[in-house]
Amino acid sequence: MADLRINLAGIASPNPFWLASAPPTNTGYQVQRAFEAGWGGAVWKTLGDPIINTSSRFAAVHFNGQRVAGFNNIELITDRPLEINLKEIYETKKRFPNHALVVSLMVEPKREKWHEIVKKVEAVGVDGLELNFGCPHGMAERGMGSASGQQPDLVEAQTMWAKEVAQTPVIVKLTPNITDITSTAKAAVRGGADAISLINTINSLAGVDIDTWHTIPHVGGKGSHGGYCGPAVKPIALHMVADCARNPAVTVPISGIGGVSTWRDAVEFMLMGATGVQVCTAAMHHGFRIVEDMIDGLNNYLDERGLASVTELTGKSVHRYEDWGNLDLNYAVVARIDTDTCINCNKCHIACEDTSHQCIERVTNAQGEAILQVREEDCVGCNLCAIVCPVEGAITMVEVQGTEAPMTWNERQKAVAELEGGPGPNKKEAV
Ligand SMILES: Cc1cc2nc3c(=O)[nH]c(=O)nc-3n(C[C@H](O)[C@H](O)[C@H](O)COP(=O)(O)O)c2cc1C
Ligand code: SF4
Ligand code: SF4
Repeated sequence: MADLRINLAGIASPNPFWLASAPPTNTGYQVQRAFEAGWGGAVWKTLGDPIINTSSRFAAVHFNGQRVAGFNNIELITDRPLEINLKEIYETKKRFPNHALVVSLMVEPKREKWHEIVKKVEAVGVDGLELNFGCPHGMAERGMGSASGQQPDLVEAQTMWAKEVAQTPVIVKLTPNITDITSTAKAAVRGGADAISLINTINSLAGVDIDTWHTIPHVGGKGSHGGYCGPAVKPIALHMVADCARNPAVTVPISGIGGVSTWRDAVEFMLMGATGVQVCTAAMHHGFRIVEDMIDGLNNYLDERGLASVTELTGKSVHRYEDWGNLDLNYAVVARIDTDTCINCNKCHIACEDTSHQCIERVTNAQGEAILQVREEDCVGCNLCAIVCPVEGAITMVEVQGTEAPMTWNERQKAVAELEGGPGPNKKEAV
């Protein structure tokens, strides 16, 4: 069995699966039950000045029979007094000394506020702190959460204030409600962060009830923007994690968050640069015991690939994630249909005919049967037919020899500039 232990910026954990700061980590009772179930770590529900939450506060997007494809909330930080949380954090750490217990914090962007909360929380014995610069609703209106997390200067300053007194590692949790995630990731690094975690929730409105015309959810007939998470946000989170991981100025480890529901999701986040992952929606949907499948699945995967430690996954795919301008424009694939497994449903033909390049034809084979065939010279290799095909393996995308030598957009621009005698990048470099 592979070694599942991780160490995120000095925070040791028996496995890479942590619960994210959210309802599953609201109390000592819950976090202790989660550790018993197998979770390697937990980030305690964000502490700060006591908050009154709204009722109701959750909503979900169900898509085509899939329940909770996305999850939306207008909940804020903890609604329990600081002293009670601190007492339970102390008891939990004492009972589970080898699990990772990180506490999430959010206070006003004032130096003395950060000093005060950091000292109070560290006094009860925690493994690390996570600064929540992410909540897109409620706290943002008070200048906290994503309101400060969208401003690199404030991220840097607040991280620095926390670091001035912190004895344990400081993780900065980033908001995805920003154009360039690396701007705040770099600010966190400049402020002295030991690690970053991402993503927090995405600004959203879950829906509108077409019978009552109320927003979903609504509070006495009024709604407000909330935070979106769950499986639907995974691609966004994965991109942001990868974007940070490949940026040379983001020099700290990453805790990946956003739509992680299975061990496979966790592997993808780790390949794209995360040291470990955090989970919220999947635990809320299915309960703490999903971690058993996550641990088993990850163990089997690592064993099958002959990997001794989960840490060997971290960052292995980052170098494959490039700017568009560095992709080979002359690389080519085409679709091939396996007529033995094809059930002749015609979905690929419709997709290509209506919305791609009109190159799947109905022809008659030697036995006089009608079959579908790709006119390869016109196929642009868009993948659409393979995506809509309901039969696994009936359409394969096959690499074909291009007629031109490999050339990226950036190389092409450079060559064009040189041909035109303009100030191409080469010339600039030479100067
Ligand atoms: C109901 C709810 C409450 C949350 N509260 C917090 C919070 O207090 N602090 C925080 O940093 N993130 C909070 N989050 C965000 C999660 O920690 C996590 O970043 C986000 O849900 C993405 O992960 P997921 O797709 O696994 O749910 C909350 C999420 C939900 C759904
Ligand atoms: S890959 Fe795209 S262009 Fe080629 S056959 Fe399929 S749908 Fe048509
Ligand atoms: S979508 Fe798949 S199964 Fe349907 S006709 Fe095309 S190749 Fe055959």
